[in-house]
Amino acid sequence: KNILFVASECTPFVKTGGLADVIGSLPQALKQNEGMEVRVILPLYDEISEEWRGQMKYLATFDVPLGWRKQEASIYALEYNQVVYYFISNEYYFTRKGVYGYYDDGERFVFFCQAVIEAIAQLDYKPDVLHAHDWQAGMAVALAKIMNPVEDMKTVITIHNIKYQGIMPLGTFDDFFQLPVEHISGMEWNGMLNCLKSALFHADKITTVSPSYAEEIKDPYYSESLHPLLIERSDDLVGVLNGIDTKDYNPLTDPSLPVNYRSSRASKKANKMEIQEKVGLPIDGEKPLYIIITRLVEQKGLHLVQHILDEFLQEDVQMVILGTGDEEFERYFADAAHRYPDKLATLLTFDEGLARQLYASADFFVMPSKFEPCGLAQLIALQYKTVPIVRETGGLKDTVFPYNEITSDGNGFSFANYNAHDLLTVLRYTLKIYHDRQQWMLLLKNINKGQFSWKDSAREYANMYEQIIPIYA
Ligand code: GLC
Repeated sequence: KNILFVASECTPFVKTGGLADVIGSLPQALKQNEGMEVRVILPLYDEISEEWRGQMKYLATFDVPLGWRKQEASIYALEYNQVVYYFISNEYYFTRKGVYGYYDDGERFVFFCQAVIEAIAQLDYKPDVLHAHDWQAGMAVALAKIMNPVEDMKTVITIHNIKYQGIMPLGTFDDFFQLPVEHISGMEWNGMLNCLKSALFHADKITTVSPSYAEEIKDPYYSESLHPLLIERSDDLVGVLNGIDTKDYNPLTDPSLPVNYRSSRASKKANKMEIQEKVGLPIDGEKPLYIIITRLVEQKGLHLVQHILDEFLQEDVQMVILGTGDEEFERYFADAAHRYPDKLATLLTFDEGLARQLYASADFFVMPSKFEPCGLAQLIALQYKTVPIVRETGGLKDTVFPYNEITSDGNGFSFANYNAHDLLTVLRYTLKIYHDRQQWMLLLKNINKGQFSWKDSAREYANMYEQIIPIYA
């Protein structure tokens, strides 16, 4: 079966967040475990390095209609880790700095989706399923349904984050498409043109990245206004948990770690002492180390951390915060690090190697998200034998199970309400468990057992494709 992934980012070529990790690892898992011929199509951004460009093969140049206008696009391909990646190039839309954040992002990705539909006609690879990810790829679903570039091609949209929808004035419909007006209603939401809604309306199946988030987005608290549509389509909506590449995220082989290990606490302590020295905290392997690694944005629950940071740092602990993002948070946490030089280090950068060293060093990983479609960081933390502390939402709720002292079940800690003192209470409780040798060992034993690879999830995606692909295909 041929499955074409349409997406706006993908490791190792271009990454701004977790979406890139999923697009960079799921196709390979589907190929190896399920025998599906998955390929990926992406925009060719300037960001994508010469190293990759050098390996690309030019395939074709073609016209892409955009309303009454026409733009040229070219398509390139390369093979990496047994997966074929296609890249769509266009001077005007994609030779800019960075990936997102332009006033015309809507137009850029509508163009990309139009180009994908045209490209499908050019390729000798005919998808059975076009599988789009997030709003940037959403219009490809709508256009595939309306224009039928391949007979009987089915479509899937995966929601990685419903907060971003690709919303533009309705008037742009005529600028972008040469379609009969009857198609407006499938693309319109609250008086605007909405790329994600267009996909939710047209797709054969809708998926999101955890079972809990699939339920949550039918509720107005999480739905960003789209719940009526998701409730209507709930028979076709499923949550499939993300996995991570467990070969890549492996503390035993990770080249960025000073000391490699399988599960040894002594090795984790050795890593901890290295990182303490590096970030300027007092060197002490016994000191409980809490880390936060995230984009510094509201979604990640940083207001809660902000609110209780002073109280928590009265305890005998250390904390490291790594990430970049909103100025409000950058300033607050940088300032707090000055106020608590022996307890808190704030590193305002995005550094993969440093992140991995921190995962390997820490005792606790803190992720109190306001909402979290899946979350990959808590899975990486578990992989590096670091105990996650999360809010019970979305994928966090589906992957982290609170430790129970009586039954000694559980692989982390959690709290339910979006409330700063609930976070503080659980943080203090984690310290108690940390200092209780016996309980701590039981908890770590549970963590050593777990794995969040792609295996089961790849099976679920494969089953879903089989459901929608016609028998004779
Ligand atoms: C988005 C979500 C995150 C999810 C990732 C990959 O970044 O915010 O929760 O893990 O997509 O699906």
